[in-house]
Amino acid sequence: MSKIALVTGASAGFGAAIARRLVAEGFTVVGAARRLERLQALQATLGAAFHPLVMDVTDAASIDAGLAQIKRQFAGIDLLVNNAGLALGVAPAQQASLDDWERMIATNVLGLTRLVHAVLPGMVERNQGHIVNLGSVAGSHPYPGGNVYGATKAFVRQLSLNLRADLFGTQVRVTNIEPGLCGGTEFSLVRLKDADRAAAVYEGADALTADDIADTVAWVATRPGRVNINTLEVMPVCQSFAGMKVHRDA
Ligand SMILES: NC(=O)c1ccc[n+]([C@@H]2O[C@H](COP(=O)([O-])OP(=O)(O)OC[C@H]3O[C@@H](n4cnc5c(N)ncnc54)[C@H](OP(=O)(O)O)[C@@H]3O)[C@@H](O)[C@H]2O)c1
Repeated sequence: MSKIALVTGASAGFGAAIARRLVAEGFTVVGAARRLERLQALQATLGAAFHPLVMDVTDAASIDAGLAQIKRQFAGIDLLVNNAGLALGVAPAQQASLDDWERMIATNVLGLTRLVHAVLPGMVERNQGHIVNLGSVAGSHPYPGGNVYGATKAFVRQLSLNLRADLFGTQVRVTNIEPGLCGGTEFSLVRLKDADRAAAVYEGADALTADDIADTVAWVATRPGRVNINTLEVMPVCQSFAGMKVHRDA
């Protein structure tokens, strides 16, 4: 019997690459997102091991309906990859859009939290399962314009670690993957809403690829059952730390 993985945000970027990689590893993958046609295109290449599921993680009813559909088809979810997420804008906090902040919190924090809340009891009951969350280096390293996006990813990191504390004595695993600069996804286009500005983010940089992240997720998910990778920060070699700034009087 192949293991069942639910991958959110499977219609693009990391999620699509993770779905492809997990199918190659022998998982049956339920790929969730809002854009059904993108999921169907993925199904056309992956075949019967990939199941498209329309789910908006900002909508509690949509999560409930999606999970009910999974329950009708499968015994349980062995691997939940909470990947759906987004950054919106790079404005400093004092100029940022409140709508953008609320959407990031609704998606990256509330959506992910609702999924954890819904899926975790079944994993504990079966004493088996793995939750892999997509955090970010932005959750640990502040940068100008990162404000609420970074804060949502700090939440994801701390929730992942706190889950480990609560799951003590069970076989259920939790991992937070924290990628740095990664190209070839829709992330910067969604964030900047401008194709040229989005392309400039990666110009001249040998950024990570979605396949690198899929590789990381597959690795943590296929360790022996006694092994829990708590957090895994991964950056391209071309990226490093900026250091502190001191504003000086002229
Ligand atoms: N790319 C990077 O540099 C980077 C670095 C660190 C962390 N991350 C994190 O990695 C994750 C994936 O990023 P990515 O680069 O692959 O971005 P992406 O290419 O923009 O893909 C985001 C995915 O999330 C889905 N999504 C967005 N809002 C959703 C919602 N309300 N309900 C369901 N699905 C939703 C999108 O699908 P639909 O639009 O079809 O719903 C899409 O499949 C995110 O959590 C991001 O914060 C990315």
